[in-house]
Amino acid sequence: MWSKRPILYVCLLTGLAIAFAMAGPSSGQNASTAIEAPSGYDNQPNGLTDSATFTMDRGKFEETEAIGDGLGPIFNAQSCRECHQNPVTGSTSQVKELRAGHQDSFGNFVAATATLADGTVTIANRSLINQRAICPAVDTITVNGGPPQPYNFPQTQGQERISTAETIRAFRMSLNTIGDGFVESIADQTLLNLASSQCSNTGGLICGETVRVPVLEASGALAVGRFGWKNQHASLLSFSSDAYLNEMGISNRLPPNNVDVTRLCDVVPDPNDNTPDSEGLTDMDHFARFMRATKVPPRDTALATSSDGVAGATLFHNVGCDICHVSSITTAPPGTAVAAGAFTVPPSLGSKVIHPYSDFLLHNIGTGDGIVQTGGQETAQKMRTPPLWGVRTRTELLHDGRSVTFYDTIQRHRNEAQPVLNNFNNLSTTQQNQLITFLRSL
Ligand code: HEC
Ligand code: HEC
Repeated sequence: MWSKRPILYVCLLTGLAIAFAMAGPSSGQNASTAIEAPSGYDNQPNGLTDSATFTMDRGKFEETEAIGDGLGPIFNAQSCRECHQNPVTGSTSQVKELRAGHQDSFGNFVAATATLADGTVTIANRSLINQRAICPAVDTITVNGGPPQPYNFPQTQGQERISTAETIRAFRMSLNTIGDGFVESIADQTLLNLASSQCSNTGGLICGETVRVPVLEASGALAVGRFGWKNQHASLLSFSSDAYLNEMGISNRLPPNNVDVTRLCDVVPDPNDNTPDSEGLTDMDHFARFMRATKVPPRDTALATSSDGVAGATLFHNVGCDICHVSSITTAPPGTAVAAGAFTVPPSLGSKVIHPYSDFLLHNIGTGDGIVQTGGQETAQKMRTPPLWGVRTRTELLHDGRSVTFYDTIQRHRNEAQPVLNNFNNLSTTQQNQLITFLRSL
């Protein structure tokens, strides 16, 4: 199971020669009994739900919300699918978001203060700056299936604005959610073990950080974060609650997302997502179940089995990309409680081998955005290793989308990734292209 990494001598700036003799790329539990997770961009479930339930849950994820449904007052898009669609509902897109803040006199990150309504309304301590608002507008709306009622705010400026005091400004690309039920089903201990073995195997050069984050549906109990560019969530229900409020302005039952961010032009009572259906589920429960039931992103099998793709996979391992972009992880056995006990791993998600090409750990590779979310101040310049499954569907790469070729993306890997970048740059042009062919197969 555990292959030896060929010893690579890496010249650091100090001129010191460091030998990597890493343990193999597989991590997790019960690797011997586990089977491969199902993959496919085929709009079919992974076995957690049946096809009809999956299609219904997907329909909720695709639903377009309007003012009468509680959309806004400030928001980024009207549906989860607007930002998670390429090539199937739930995956990624080119949509990016704006975050902002500044440092205080001690160098600590402070989230932005934004103003609305010509400076008369203030939203303090929130790094996400929404880029749409429901006002100014005049409309006729329907609230909770009631009679049509007027919505009349022709002169109210709902658009959030920040001042020049917010000197930290960052864009964040949308992320894939397909296959995330398997990621949620990785035991905390698997990620903690990954972090410690990575650090000891590289002689302390590459030491990914775990952060423990509140699970909203477990009354804020902590679990190891794995979702979002900052690992800001550990559970898909928590992410759904957060995204429903912060991307779409739909408040929901889980605090702190049970009230809208501002009352300006707000005509629908909180929480907006408040009507359990015949199954007792609200919209966000369907979003979470939809994502949990998705298959993992499939490979491009033609490229993966091509001679360049096969050679590229070996080079990806040999230069050390998979120290962080870990190729195989095994999910916890069925029945394991994850997400601080809020989710019990079902048979369809448990003991499965996945190939996310991520360690789900935070690293400083010199690209950090300066923003702190649920982690401590030391996470300001760190980003989560993004899973590379499905990366062939992305054109704007890294968290800020500012690299549009794989070559340029690799060249932006510095700091912790510098030794691996050096190894890549020591390959021949043919080998570099083979490694990139491998990326294009993911
Ligand atoms: C305006 C675009 C937009 C909308 C609408 C949106 N998202 Fe996202 N989503 C993003 C971005 C951007 C990220 C990365 C956020 C970050 O970490 O800063 C993300 C990340 C995620 C993740 C983390 C994926 C991972 O593996 O790390 C999940 C889960 C998610 N979104 C679910 C949802 C759900 C559910 C909805 C609907 C309620 C939704 N999103 C609506 C843009 C959007
Ligand atoms: C020290 C850990 C580490 C190593 C080693 C590493 N990466 Fe990364 N990689 C990251 C992190 C962290 C990011 C995200 C940085 C950001 O967005 O600011 C990233 C981002 C990427 C992305 C962009 C993915 C996306 O969806 O935007 C690609 C592609 C990538 N890495 C490929 C590679 C390749 C190829 C190698 C080997 C030459 C490599 N990485 C080595 C940590 C690492």
